[in-house]
Amino acid sequence: MTLTYTNGELTLHGHKLTDIAKKYGTPLFVYDEVMIRNQCRRFHTALKESGLSYTISYASKAFSAIQLFNLMTEEKMGLDVVSEGELYTALQSSVSPDTIHFHGNNKTDREIRYAIESGVEYFVIDSLSEIERLDELATKKVKALLRINPGVEAHTHEFIQTGQEDSKFGLSIQKGLALEGVRKIEKAKNIEFMGVHFHIGSQIFESTGTVATIEQVITWLSDNHIQAQVLNIGGGFGIKYTDEDVSYPIEEGIKIITDTLKSACHAVGYPVPAISLEPGRSIVGEAGVTLYEVGTVKEIPDTNYYVSIDGGMSDHIRTALYGATYELLLANREEEHDKLMTVAGKLCESGDIIRRDIKLPSSIHRGDLLVVLSTGAYHYSMSSNYNQMLKPAVVFVTPEEVRLVVKRQTLEHLIAQDIR
Ligand code: LLP
Repeated sequence: MTLTYTNGELTLHGHKLTDIAKKYGTPLFVYDEVMIRNQCRRFHTALKESGLSYTISYASKAFSAIQLFNLMTEEKMGLDVVSEGELYTALQSSVSPDTIHFHGNNKTDREIRYAIESGVEYFVIDSLSEIERLDELATKKVKALLRINPGVEAHTHEFIQTGQEDSKFGLSIQKGLALEGVRKIEKAKNIEFMGVHFHIGSQIFESTGTVATIEQVITWLSDNHIQAQVLNIGGGFGIKYTDEDVSYPIEEGIKIITDTLKSACHAVGYPVPAISLEPGRSIVGEAGVTLYEVGTVKEIPDTNYYVSIDGGMSDHIRTALYGATYELLLANREEEHDKLMTVAGKLCESGDIIRRDIKLPSSIHRGDLLVVLSTGAYHYSMSSNYNQMLKPAVVFVTPEEVRLVVKRQTLEHLIAQDIR
């Protein structure tokens, strides 16, 4: 997202962040709609370039909202959902059910029934027992991919690695479970085998792991005479959180991936399957920021300088959970970043930190507006009501307008489920 200082104030598409904060309150998630659309288009262009048949499904776990899903329809993106809740939200939008696929390592019977009734495009089966359950619950033929585990360790945080041998996701190629799964699906009377899926991890910056996995999977498919119409390679394309990061090079990376798929297939005479992608973070991550108002400023002599904001781990859990790092900017003044400080949340935990040891203007004081960059993915969707904090509002910004997309929760929401 391109935020620019205009007359000393940060603006997005010409709208002052201070005006947006004044109108919608803080904490507030602000998205650059133009950038979201552009990220979708970059994937489309790169895949079109390959000449392969393809689909792209936005991984809705990164941020689920009806208006975002409507936008995904406009950008010809399908959806990847992993729960009844994500499917329900998707069905309230303009997304067509036959462009939605259903993931999950423990789909409940209720979820399976709901997804079948809704007419989702396909299931991504994640275990041997799921094959039997799906076959039993299906009242008509349903399509499915099998999630396989290639045994590849992606270079990322261990909590978001998913392709290693010891993983709750997918069926291991090495241990023979993947092949057993395919044979089982082929015998099932109500399941049509469409192909295979893998996702080796999230926040990955280079294509080596994916390339190695594609080569391995194509050889495996060919050796075992398995006809896959679709190869879904998941998501995981990394984004830039700090100045040290470089986002995944979408155009270059997709070219490497699609060239690999073609050459791996040609090498063994295997018909090239359609390729499917499930990007989440790379679609919305850098397109979103969080606005917070500064409250208490506390200096502990020779120790630390704490600046506390009006949100925290209830809307920003990634620092506490993964040790993630963020860039921050002062929105209402352009000043030199001359003082080392820690920006903390307001929740009752010492671990409730937005960013440790960051240089920001020494003049920061109560009432200032701070922006945390690259919070568009896995922030709102991982927000909670811990400490009975309210989930923030979400707005989308274009050059023409600032539009409310999700309302801020109210105190009534906090007790809506309580029985008095
Ligand atoms: N497909 C599958 C099967 C996945 O498990 C995921 C992410 C994606 C696609 C989308 O990955 P993306 O393109 O967004 O990297 N909460 C963590 C991320 C967990 C990712 C889980 N699966 C975080 O905040 O970093």
